[in-house]
Amino acid sequence: MSIKKIEHQCQVLVIGAGAAGLTLALRLADQADIIVLSKANLSEGSTYYAQGGIAAVYDENDSIESHVQDTLIAGAGLCDEEAVRFTAENARQSLENLISCGVPFDKETNASGEEKFHLTREGGHSHRRILHAADATGKAVQKTLNNATKQHKNIRVFERYNAVDLITDQKLNNTSTSTHCHGAYVWNRNTEQVEVIKAQVVVLATGGASKVYQYTSNPDVASGDGIAMAWRAGCRIANMEFNQFHPTSLFHSDAQNFLLTEALRGEGAYLRRPDGTRFMPEYDERAELAPRDIVARAIDREMKRLGADSMFLDISHKDKPFIKKHFPTIYRRCRTLGMKMHKKPIPVVPAAHYTCGGIMTDLNGKSDLDNLYAIGEVAYTGLHGANRMASNSLLECLVFAESAAKHIQAHAFHKTHSPNIPAWDESKVSHADENVIINHNWHELRLFMWDYVGIVRTNKRLERALRRIELLQQEVHDYYANFKVSNNLLELRNLLDVAELIVKCAMSRKESRGLHYNLDYPDKLENSQPSILIPTNSPLNK
Ligand code: FAD
Ligand code: SIN
Repeated sequence: MSIKKIEHQCQVLVIGAGAAGLTLALRLADQADIIVLSKANLSEGSTYYAQGGIAAVYDENDSIESHVQDTLIAGAGLCDEEAVRFTAENARQSLENLISCGVPFDKETNASGEEKFHLTREGGHSHRRILHAADATGKAVQKTLNNATKQHKNIRVFERYNAVDLITDQKLNNTSTSTHCHGAYVWNRNTEQVEVIKAQVVVLATGGASKVYQYTSNPDVASGDGIAMAWRAGCRIANMEFNQFHPTSLFHSDAQNFLLTEALRGEGAYLRRPDGTRFMPEYDERAELAPRDIVARAIDREMKRLGADSMFLDISHKDKPFIKKHFPTIYRRCRTLGMKMHKKPIPVVPAAHYTCGGIMTDLNGKSDLDNLYAIGEVAYTGLHGANRMASNSLLECLVFAESAAKHIQAHAFHKTHSPNIPAWDESKVSHADENVIINHNWHELRLFMWDYVGIVRTNKRLERALRRIELLQQEVHDYYANFKVSNNLLELRNLLDVAELIVKCAMSRKESRGLHYNLDYPDKLENSQPSILIPTNSPLNK
């Protein structure tokens, strides 16, 4: 049977259309022909849902050194200081580029009549440092980038395309020692066919992997696809045990995944037990503004101790006009659900929010493979260490998109080797008639990851999780070989790889630090290092 091949070509293939992917695409578009992939519609990624804002030094009493020190403290001794300095130093310029694209950050007029950006505060920041567009910063950023992208003649946007696997020399020829990446196999969700995209440079900007947990603030696309693809292609992955749980996700059966921004606590909201008493001062002197790992663990502990379904976030001591001005989205959402946040505390629970680990890169976003870059939440740059400070994530997307774009322009466009890429072979597979198996495995994985590899871990729970992951991997492997691909199957395959990486990193860490808390090793080690996993096909093994 002949296999029909659909092949596209471009200079730069950007897999992912959030803040990281689109910023990079726009930076390169005047010099290169670009294809941007988005797994769902163009807006659907964590960027769109970001609330609090983007950190950068704008206040005259603030300093880059202070931003650096706050980030290092939040990162609990595991940040790469060079990456932290690089990010803080380049923050303002990256923000200015975004502002010049037209993002409407909130402004205020000071006592001398000057108009300045309104800066809010979040946990871990010693100064007001967060630029924001009310409580819907991500929506403003994504919409602005979408518009600029759609208007650029050199950017082709492929919506509803899942990248399946990277095409490397090694994938084409198992014995090859070259480490070039030539593009990707992508599944077109509209036609349900796998197509080939050939590129001189590939950039992974696929976001995080929080969907590996049952409860998450992230949208459905956050299934760690980029991390899994890069691992299978031979890239090192680091620090996957550091999964950030946001302390305050709304607890309501009709509002899954809805976040209550940390800026609420930055503007004075308190956390309360069901009986109305505050508890954060008992856990940390910074109380509600302690870094997220501390606040999330405190909520988890209080819920378990009291057998409560949730804790409560209370901003009812602020007046209604203040709340409506600063938090219009949250105010409206709560109203729709019958909750008046200016009158009563709102029920909250922690939810998986951010993947601190990822594909190891240098300061140019370059991975271990030739011509493969990784930027944004998918990457591990060393910035976040054991715990990301609020609003440093969108910042990392912008700063590393800029540096990767510069590096690509200077170094990556000159390779000419362009091999013939075989079509995706589906001749031996059939349509699956047992989707129930995939759906069941999906739920099983996310539930045991929440229970065994969540906010509090033990050696036994990690071992149990790994055994189950290996079993599910075997099932999914058989399924993958025999049936046509589907979105759920592709995501499950990736989530299982990511779950394995999380558990293996967690097992290798014999201490509790930042976001990783293991009851069998409750203390910090004196000398702690990032946990780095090296795949057997890594170029470093050659
Ligand atoms: P994303 O914005 O997640 O985009 C990923 C893109 O990759 C999407 O286009 C997706 O479709 C695509 N993709 C994924 N897999 C594939 C595949 N296989 N094939 C093709 N395309 C694929 N950070 C802050 O700094 N400040 C905040 O205020 C803030 N608030 C947040 C609030 C919420 C509710 C959430 C969920 C996160 C928040 N964060 C915040 C974190 C921040 O939003 C993310 O880390 C950041 O937006 C990630 O951007 P990104 O470009 O790396 O990925
Ligand atoms: C929030 O608004 O609380 C999220 C901020 C972040 O994740 O950086």
